[in-house]
Amino acid sequence: MAKIKTRLAERLGIDIPILGFSHSVDVTAAITKAGGMGVYGIAHDPPDNVPVKIAAIRQQIPERPFCIDIMMPKGMPESETLESVQANLPAEHVDYVRELGEKYQVPAATKKTFFNSILRTPSYFEGQLQALLDSDVDLVAFGVGLTPDAVSRLKAKGKIVGALIGSPRHFQAYRDVGLDFIVAQGSEAGGHTGTIGTMVLVPEIVQMAGDLPVLAAGGIGHGSQIAAALAMGAQGVWLGTTWLSTEEHASGDHAIGDKLRDKLFAAGSGDTGLTRGSSGKPQRQIRSAWTEEWSAPTAPRPLPMPYQHALVGDLMTAIEEHEVDPMLHSPAGQGVTWSTAKRSVAEVMEDLSAEALAGLQRAGRLGD
Ligand SMILES: Cc1cc2nc3c(=O)[nH]c(=O)nc-3n(C[C@H](O)[C@H](O)[C@H](O)COP(=O)(O)O)c2cc1C
Repeated sequence: MAKIKTRLAERLGIDIPILGFSHSVDVTAAITKAGGMGVYGIAHDPPDNVPVKIAAIRQQIPERPFCIDIMMPKGMPESETLESVQANLPAEHVDYVRELGEKYQVPAATKKTFFNSILRTPSYFEGQLQALLDSDVDLVAFGVGLTPDAVSRLKAKGKIVGALIGSPRHFQAYRDVGLDFIVAQGSEAGGHTGTIGTMVLVPEIVQMAGDLPVLAAGGIGHGSQIAAALAMGAQGVWLGTTWLSTEEHASGDHAIGDKLRDKLFAAGSGDTGLTRGSSGKPQRQIRSAWTEEWSAPTAPRPLPMPYQHALVGDLMTAIEEHEVDPMLHSPAGQGVTWSTAKRSVAEVMEDLSAEALAGLQRAGRLGD
């Protein structure tokens, strides 16, 4: 595979400046093996599980770098438990969720997942952070939120540390905390996201960041967009949605089942939308009965994080466990339009790189 050289790619020791976010160990390792850098998201892994996941990735790529992504949203309750929160949820919300389960005939969940067994609290995040500090992971990125203290503790251990941002305001807040790279994530992205488009956000943040390397994220699923991101001054890209429909994501923890994969294949760029229905914060998902029900005029206003998740965790787990259509849903960005067939991570990387090189050559010729 041809190389695409940027300063950040050289610093990270990767051939292609594609960082790939996933909740799958196998996808993470496969991205690194294919010349990019896998990023494993630990949001759903309790602290005890983090070393297990890191060891599983390390076993597949003993010599190669990978990144861990941690979410540390502000304002989570310290003294609450999932049970205490659930005991005090508003009756209107509880009734609505029960009615949704009845309307779509969702059988009860039999599994325990992050959504129905864990509450996001500062001590949960501290436990995860401690596991990263004790690990040999090369890079750490902060998803939603960070603390300057967490950044300095990681840096003191020699980790390369970055953060996702969705606006110039976020960049200002993080400017002086000592980050090594920034991921400018536009609104097109799958998962928690803001309102500014990638095409506007990336050059804006590149300009503000000076020497600090910026990665572009949000809606990227075709290599020509990688060429565009590099032309805008980014030193690489960060992709999430693309990996959901890969072969490696079809098994293991957080496996994507056939029904959901078919929905991703069928979805076009206009088939995603923002909802607060799953976590309480705006999240871009593939459109489904789930997203429609939470924006219906009769729906109660979703609760803030982490209360919404405590409200819907059992129903979300049951929908996923029993693959209940049309409620089946997933975070996905507008770039889902390029997910049309099940490919291996290596094939995806090969296509992205070839398309990026073609785009760079096309644009290069125009400048003559
Ligand atoms: C299924 C899914 C789950 C995600 N979970 C997280 C997460 O836990 N932490 C995080 O920082 N970003 C998360 N993201 C966002 C990605 O890190 C990334 O910024 C985003 O997917 C990029 O946009 P794209 O989906 O258009 O490629 C998630 C994205 C998807 C699609």
